[in-house]
Amino acid sequence: MPYKIEIKNLYFDYVGKKTTFGALEDINLDIKEGEFVCVLGSSGCGKSTLLSILNGLNKAKSGQILIDGKETLGPGVNRATVFQNYSLFPWKTVKQNVLFGAKQSAKRKEYTKEERNKKVIEYISSVGLLNSMDKYPFELSGGMQQRVAIARALALEADILLLDEPFSAIDPRLRLELQELVSKLSKEHNKTVIFITHDIDEAILLADKIVVMEPKHIKSVLDIDLSYPRVREKLVGREDYERLHRKLISLFYENIEDNIDLEVAL
Ligand SMILES: Nc1ncnc2c1ncn2[C@@H]1O[C@H](COP(=O)(O)OP(=O)(O)OP(=O)(O)O)[C@@H](O)[C@H]1O
Ligand SMILES: [Mg+2]
Repeated sequence: MPYKIEIKNLYFDYVGKKTTFGALEDINLDIKEGEFVCVLGSSGCGKSTLLSILNGLNKAKSGQILIDGKETLGPGVNRATVFQNYSLFPWKTVKQNVLFGAKQSAKRKEYTKEERNKKVIEYISSVGLLNSMDKYPFELSGGMQQRVAIARALALEADILLLDEPFSAIDPRLRLELQELVSKLSKEHNKTVIFITHDIDEAILLADKIVVMEPKHIKSVLDIDLSYPRVREKLVGREDYERLHRKLISLFYENIEDNIDLEVAL
């Protein structure tokens, strides 16, 4: 089967007035259609930079990103992004925010107005917010806002979902609920997902594949063959889970000291 996303020899640097900072070097990664990939790495290693190139906000300085075999050079309707800070339109209600996503897909897929409005309700319902449809973002909790952001991204009906630490500001119990929700919806809608996190447990619960990054580079790619649905309480103590957990801890923490040195040096 051809890959959905191919990242080939990707290089990116941030060019300032006086200095240039190489943020990503020699990144290579192949992702299958419908695969859920978690990118795990410590702060500053280049995760958001990688996502920003995938969604087209930044452009690779060299190397290529292929989607469905074609080189992609900018933003596109085949990718929807969910950011950490919710990034809803504050002047729009829940319904209007999701409608914004649905309008983009409706143009492409030639839905009638009725079909489009039905989809808006379906997506709001799928994230459990039917009762808050007419509320504005400031009237919602962080978790609710993030659910709206997920519904809006789903309403775009893009094949690829890109999520940048979407639950890092959410309390642990609600975070579990949202993890389950994203896992379930991405499978139901056959999305190819790239989900950035620095949380090892989150990555194990969600991922078909975990990409561990170290500063600027991919350090390791692990295929995760634990069956779904994954329930943390049932996994803890299982030999395969514990082995994977230990491996990820050692891969992850090996580089933390480098980053702390970097912070102190700055
Ligand atoms: N606009 C920018 N200009 C210059 N350097 C930048 C810029 N944005 C990010 N960087 C640098 O690039 C490196 C990677 O940043 P990036 O935001 O991709 O890290 P990250 O892995 O997403 O970190 P975090 O987990 O903290 O979000 C960091 O060293 C950062 O300081
Ligand atoms: Mg980041």
